[in-house]
Amino acid sequence: MIQLGIIGCGTIGSALAKAVEKKFSRIARLAYVSDINPVQIEKFRKKIAASKFRAVPVSHLIQKSDFIIETASLCAAEQVIPKVLKSGKDILVLSVGGILNIKHLQSLIRKSRGHIYIPSGGIAGIDAVLASKTGTINSVRITTRKPLSSLQNSPYFLRNRSRLGAIRKPKLVFEGNAAEAIRNFPENVNVAVTLSLAGIGPERTRVRIFTSPTYRYNMHEIEIKSSFGQIVTHVTNIPARENPKTSALAIGSAVATLEKIFSRFKIGT
Ligand SMILES: NC(=O)c1ccc[n+]([C@@H]2O[C@H](COP(=O)([O-])OP(=O)(O)OC[C@H]3O[C@@H](n4cnc5c(N)ncnc54)[C@H](O)[C@@H]3O)[C@@H](O)[C@H]2O)c1
Repeated sequence: MIQLGIIGCGTIGSALAKAVEKKFSRIARLAYVSDINPVQIEKFRKKIAASKFRAVPVSHLIQKSDFIIETASLCAAEQVIPKVLKSGKDILVLSVGGILNIKHLQSLIRKSRGHIYIPSGGIAGIDAVLASKTGTINSVRITTRKPLSSLQNSPYFLRNRSRLGAIRKPKLVFEGNAAEAIRNFPENVNVAVTLSLAGIGPERTRVRIFTSPTYRYNMHEIEIKSSFGQIVTHVTNIPARENPKTSALAIGSAVATLEKIFSRFKIGT
């Protein structure tokens, strides 16, 4: 039985814990959780009543779990991934942007027996980007549209507070690469980093972010030009009820990744 540890008891962490109980109980059990906020752990306990997990410090969780699930924050991912790799364990990472701040990641990966798993998130097309990489990818661009309410506490808008009030209809508020995008919107564009890691890297992956108080959904459009041809995908995501910054599909994508890891029948690139 695989002993799972979840770091971050919020929206995605609780959804994954429920999925483990419902779908994977013959293979894995939730053994440990960790969260910087004790209130979140108590809420989590009420939702996941059946599991006999223990709330422990992160270092203990890494030491005792076989497989770690990070659903906390960029900062947590940056700190936890090197420790997990050094202890030869596997980790599923949701706060993908944190990976960009890890020094000597490739060397850590080479020296470790562990694996890093990154779900596609709320976008479509990662399978095709990976396949395109066997040829030559010329350009990758993601255009993200999110409601103003889900971007307003981002570092970008905390610096440009005055611009918020002036936005009444769809407006392009950011254009740059994936590394710059995640620095400005750390809780909103993890998918841009995932796309960049799958394709041509964070410096070359172009990102545009539109926002409007009139938007109701999180929308992502991806355009890839490669030696195989052209790919365009568009996803209109329903936001997760508990955290509108997170798309419901991102949760589904993380559950599907676990399913693929645990299954002997694997579909998709
Ligand atoms: N990869 C993707 O496609 C994708 C999609 C949506 C969200 N995300 C990211 O996944 C993460 C989780 O999203 P969510 O919607 O569940 O967020 P959430 O706010 O609902 O939950 C996050 C939880 O993590 C806890 N936490 C924060 N920092 C921590 C730390 N250092 N150590 C332990 N616990 C910590 C918080 O207290 C909270 O309980 C976020 O970083 C989010 O940006 C990624």
